Amino acid sequence: MEKMKDSKGKQVTWCLMFCVSTAVIGSLQFGYNTGVINAPDEKVQNFIRNVTQERSGEPMDKSTLTTVWSVTVSIFNVGGMIGSLTVGTLVDKLGRRKCMLLSNILALIGGGLMGLSSMCTSYELIIVGRLVIGAFCGLCTGLTPMYVGEIAPTALRGAFGTLHQLGVVIGILIAQILGLELLLGSQYLWPLLLALTVVPAVLQCVMLIFCPESPRYLLITLNQEEEARQVLTRLRGHSDVEDDIHEMKEEALKMSMEKKVSIPELFRNSAYRQPIIIAIILQLSQQLSGINAVIYYSTKIFRYAGITEAVYATIGVGAVNTLFTVISLFLVERAGRRTLHMVGLAGMTVCALLMTISLELLVSLGLIQGTSAISVLAILAVFGFVASFEMGPGPIPWFIVAELFAQGPRPAAIAVAGCCNWTASFLVGLLFPKLLDLCQAYVFIIFLVLLIIFFMFTYFRVPETKGRTFEDIASGFSNAAGSNAANYTSPEANL
Ligand code: GLC
Repeated sequence: MEKMKDSKGKQVTWCLMFCVSTAVIGSLQFGYNTGVINAPDEKVQNFIRNVTQERSGEPMDKSTLTTVWSVTVSIFNVGGMIGSLTVGTLVDKLGRRKCMLLSNILALIGGGLMGLSSMCTSYELIIVGRLVIGAFCGLCTGLTPMYVGEIAPTALRGAFGTLHQLGVVIGILIAQILGLELLLGSQYLWPLLLALTVVPAVLQCVMLIFCPESPRYLLITLNQEEEARQVLTRLRGHSDVEDDIHEMKEEALKMSMEKKVSIPELFRNSAYRQPIIIAIILQLSQQLSGINAVIYYSTKIFRYAGITEAVYATIGVGAVNTLFTVISLFLVERAGRRTLHMVGLAGMTVCALLMTISLELLVSLGLIQGTSAISVLAILAVFGFVASFEMGPGPIPWFIVAELFAQGPRPAAIAVAGCCNWTASFLVGLLFPKLLDLCQAYVFIIFLVLLIIFFMFTYFRVPETKGRTFEDIASGFSNAAGSNAANYTSPEANL
């Protein structure tokens, strides 16, 4: 097997790249389905109105339409909460690989239902389809970081973990581009845009046939040492895998002495309480930073700033989003998770302030028509907000949960963290439009305050996990149960 090896012994084989690429298709699906509903919103709403007119002879009134539309958009998150919460039980029963394979059934059903909605003149099919696709994406947000974290070499776990977020942002960008009116966002083609999610689902199923099960699952959960050794040999490109095996065996031994970790156990046991609180707050810092308010409403914000082709500026947001995730990918193993998360939160705070000032000036000075220096500032503030998010708060919360917990509690922790993320994103989606009406340009002050709180929490509570084994991180929490997590860092953490 061909192998590329750098001087620090960070091995990346083709087999590893193939497995990670396969898993990251799940991230792409999550991003695509997050972004896909925004561009064709008017067309889908027209469809809902027409269907009602055809059925009852009367058009749907405006407030009912708004309600049906909000349900259509947000039911995706309800599905996500369900999917993310069930992932813990499923991965332990079926294994990571089989779980990814079977989850695609949901993508096929969800995509199929949405694609058939127009043909069957039923908007209900879109709603049910969004729920099913949400459940699928909820599974993906747990499965991809878990599988990738478990197969990656320790020294590259952060960089590989960031690939999940890269998949998400590329998915959003593809949805934004394909959603343009001249492509699939037109009056007749939008069902195809929604159904397109079945294509990556089929591709992932085919690729998964060639992917091995996670060696950590084989050894630690199933006690199949020989199989785990074979998989590791394939992934690392050489048969000297004793270090990995030794580390896993130690973890397995520890696990065999503990009873199975359930979700309530995470909060009861003092060794898990600290990391689960960190995991939850980091997820909240991602969603309550206000990122999706910008991702969903950037077109509106740009119109405010006097940009005539606002939809293209929104694609600019997608491009900045992608570029900075790539930058973070290269920085995360150098700067560390904790530092990058804080840099990102600080950058977002400054940009939220700049956005508020520039938008308020635009409105109060009546500069809504035509581009001015202030509108340029508003656009740069939006770009800066998104760029800062992708430096840390975007990628890090997704993969750090897998790092904060050893094999035993990991599935339950990923389920809890994922569900908190989806719930927070549901609340932002639901409340932001109302808050925007209420607070106008000052709406970002709310996020600014939250960002400062999350920055302080990260500074005081979040330990560095870069370069440390799962076992080392977990024992750090056990030893320090009850004391300040940021105070203990293993020697390797400072490499
Ligand atoms: C993260 C968030 C997701 C958001 C995306 C934006 O993956 O979980 O909600 O839309 O980043 O890049």
